[in-house]
Amino acid sequence: MEHDLSILRDDSLEAIRVARSEAELERVETDLLGRNGKFAAAMKRLSALSRDERPRIGKLIQEVRRTIDQALADRKRTFGTHRHTFDPTLPGERPVRGHVHPITTYSRRIIEVWRSFGYDVHEGPELEEDWYNFEALNFPKDHPTRDMHDTFFIKGRPDLVLRTHTSTVQARSVFHRKPPLKFVEIGRVYRHEATDAKHESTFTQCDGIAIDRHMTMAHLVGTLHVFFKRMFGDDVKIRTRPSYFPFVEPGIEMDLQWTINGKTEWLEMLGAGMIHPNVMKSLKLDPKKWNGFAFGMGFDRLVMLSYGITDIRMLYNGNLDFLKQF
Ligand code: PHE
Repeated sequence: MEHDLSILRDDSLEAIRVARSEAELERVETDLLGRNGKFAAAMKRLSALSRDERPRIGKLIQEVRRTIDQALADRKRTFGTHRHTFDPTLPGERPVRGHVHPITTYSRRIIEVWRSFGYDVHEGPELEEDWYNFEALNFPKDHPTRDMHDTFFIKGRPDLVLRTHTSTVQARSVFHRKPPLKFVEIGRVYRHEATDAKHESTFTQCDGIAIDRHMTMAHLVGTLHVFFKRMFGDDVKIRTRPSYFPFVEPGIEMDLQWTINGKTEWLEMLGAGMIHPNVMKSLKLDPKKWNGFAFGMGFDRLVMLSYGITDIRMLYNGNLDFLKQF
């Protein structure tokens, strides 16, 4: 019986080794371990043995069985790995691609138009000196004009604020340069306001400035008209209204006509005006020699209209499910 078992083991291992396909291996397995297989036959012979012999031979049969199980499993794995080898005919796996935020898309479009008019693009810090945000722009200290902006102040640093507008660029970028100058700045601004679908404490503005000799309101209004036409097409309807900002004189606001859900409305787009002589003096420029215009627009609302976004907070909360749609 021992001899028969060692032959069974050697034959089985050989049959497993030479099996050339998974199907063939399956046949070998049935032949060995199936209900009418060689192992079943060996077990039957075990019951015919004497009580003394049974435990020893039984143990031998189990050992042979373990060896064969192991050999079958190993061989199966080699077929398995063959199936997963590189197949150049399968389609590739595409890496996930990101894309820019809708605000960035819009910023780039706006910058492209201003660059085509010969404007430079400047940057400034979001944590700004009070002087650049207010003082240099003719908002005197403790004057009620400061209440126009609900400001985030910095604890222990009365000289710093989170900038409330990108008009800071007027003072920052002009101070160390010589006119004639023209440039824009795009960036985030912050106001301490209650937030809702239409208001967020963080939003995005684009300010611009042009300083030269003999600049007029006609230059300002004409430039902004061309800008809006380049952005939205020649048919865009523009309205100009007088307004007040401490750093310009005279000041204006411009509205664009939009049709939203079948309703036609004027939407406020920007503030602008001729740079106030006091601002020129803060910048150490002689207002008799130099003058210019400035404008500042928030464009979150335009982004929302273009994409049909109904809640401004979606633009700033980093929700990927939302952002992946663009
Ligand atoms: N900074 C102003 C605002 O945030 C807009 C503005 C810019 C007005 C430049 C006039 C000139 O509302």
